[in-house]
Amino acid sequence: MSIDSTWLRCPNCFLDLAEVDGRVFGCAAGHRYDRAKQGYLTLLPPKAPRTVGDDREMLQARSALLDGGAYARIAAAITDAVVEQHTLGGRSALRIADLGCGTGHYSTVLSQAVPEADFLLADRSPDAVRMSLRALPSATGVVLDLWRPLPLRDGVVDVALNVFAPRNGVEFARVLDSSGLLIVVVPTTAHLQELRLTGALLDVPAGKSDRVAEQLSESGLVLRSTTSVEYTFSADAATRNLLANMGPSAHHGDSLSSTDARAVEPVDVTVSVEVLSFEHSTAVPA
Ligand SMILES: C[S@@+](CC[C@H](N)C(=O)[O-])C[C@H]1O[C@@H](n2cnc3c(N)ncnc32)[C@H](O)[C@@H]1O
Repeated sequence: MSIDSTWLRCPNCFLDLAEVDGRVFGCAAGHRYDRAKQGYLTLLPPKAPRTVGDDREMLQARSALLDGGAYARIAAAITDAVVEQHTLGGRSALRIADLGCGTGHYSTVLSQAVPEADFLLADRSPDAVRMSLRALPSATGVVLDLWRPLPLRDGVVDVALNVFAPRNGVEFARVLDSSGLLIVVVPTTAHLQELRLTGALLDVPAGKSDRVAEQLSESGLVLRSTTSVEYTFSADAATRNLLANMGPSAHHGDSLSSTDARAVEPVDVTVSVEVLSFEHSTAVPA
């Protein structure tokens, strides 16, 4: 695992970061950051709030669910969107940043379609960055806070992935290359609706994708295409537990294990998301 510092700027003064010696990275102003032994950098701004992202249990639940293939069609839709961009752009090596990468699942799937791409795996949760780097060891791993100015250089990202994760339109627009692509995946109100009815998951507000598009347009990123992905799959009690425990609902009252423990029979569960592709408003449409 190595760090490609050409992605990075100092979270403190915003000057470029470079390797100082094998384990230390720094900027010309003298700020220094140690590479963790698992191969990632923690690049948080001064006085970073103690938001910590997903914990290990949530990540393990997410990993088991994703490895079982339940969201394979979402990964396929993301891959299609990127491959299309890759072909159109005729680029040799895409720089793909997974912002809120979690387990790194979508980048790992994508790396099989675009093996020559360089990946950056970024999350607020150190456990997430560690886990995603184990899945994709060639990537650069960074612990960062998506709510703050990002420790990434201007225009350094060809494709940004933001899958079920916090969004920062101003910063996404800054780090995205002028012809770059931002892919955002958001759930619709139908997503996992069978589990929401049991109270095991938080509701998804109606019109979420419209609101996301509106917010991002304020930062100069325009919606170029939307792909709806909707299907059902049969989820046994163990799978429903994973679904309930891998997301924010795990921290909000009853999880599925207490609300639905008696339902041992498999239940058809709906997966319903929108895969939104954004570009700079100044980009020439393909
Ligand atoms: C619902 S998970 C999605 C993970 C992954 N994209 C996926 O779909 O499998 C949201 C991710 O965002 C991360 N996250 C939450 N708040 C964050 C923040 N302020 N900055 C960076 N990452 C954050 C969490 O740690 C978690 O990994």
